[in-house]
Amino acid sequence: MNEFSERLIDQNPEVGADNIYFQFKEYRLENLLSAAKISTISGWNVLDLGCGSKDSTSVDFGDDRRFEAWFPRVCAANGAARVVGVDLYDQSPEDKNVYEHIRADLKPLLTGEVLVKKFGKQSFNLINTEGFLLHKEPGAAFSGAMGFSEMIMASRGTEEQRQKVDRLIENLLKQSMKLLKPGGIASIEENAYQLQDDGTLKPLKVHFL
Ligand SMILES: C[S@@+](CC[C@H](N)C(=O)[O-])C[C@H]1O[C@@H](n2cnc3c(N)ncnc32)[C@H](O)[C@@H]1O
Repeated sequence: MNEFSERLIDQNPEVGADNIYFQFKEYRLENLLSAAKISTISGWNVLDLGCGSKDSTSVDFGDDRRFEAWFPRVCAANGAARVVGVDLYDQSPEDKNVYEHIRADLKPLLTGEVLVKKFGKQSFNLINTEGFLLHKEPGAAFSGAMGFSEMIMASRGTEEQRQKVDRLIENLLKQSMKLLKPGGIASIEENAYQLQDDGTLKPLKVHFL
């Protein structure tokens, strides 16, 4: 645990390691690392897209804490050197010193090479999206997602909308090939890939939950 995370948890005990949502994200990180046979993220640079925010949670779930920036917190707590989170909503005040937050609509950032231009080549060891580029069949569980965004609504929408999400994922993977450092990982919803020496992304065998 690094000093920022220690402070976060000291000042906000409900955010701490006992929190079920914190534990879910630790589980995601552990599974990723074990699939990639990597033992630590110490010193890593992490980019989390649609990272969560207390405001996004309250818009759709009242006071429930489930979609706060748990993954950035977990990465910071596990020694990442730099964690950047991007979300439509503002950063929660208690996370101010925990990770760098960019409030932005990701849709334009996911097109072309916008992320590559913004952050530069080989800038991250891990790029993560969860609960953001969802691609569930219509009628699947997760009804609460209806309020979030056009993109998430697309996960329950028409074939055309789902194809749009597919194209965004495809383009994010293309950008990841440039954004990742050698051996870096892209974990995009339920799938994860590791950058190989020849510049390709190899799927990792990982079951998140
Ligand atoms: C279901 S929550 C998941 C949060 C977090 N990744 C997690 O796994 O707990 C989806 C998040 O994506 C964000 N989001 C949705 N559409 C977005 C967009 N177009 N641009 C940026 N963020 C977006 C929402 O604000 C919300 O915080």
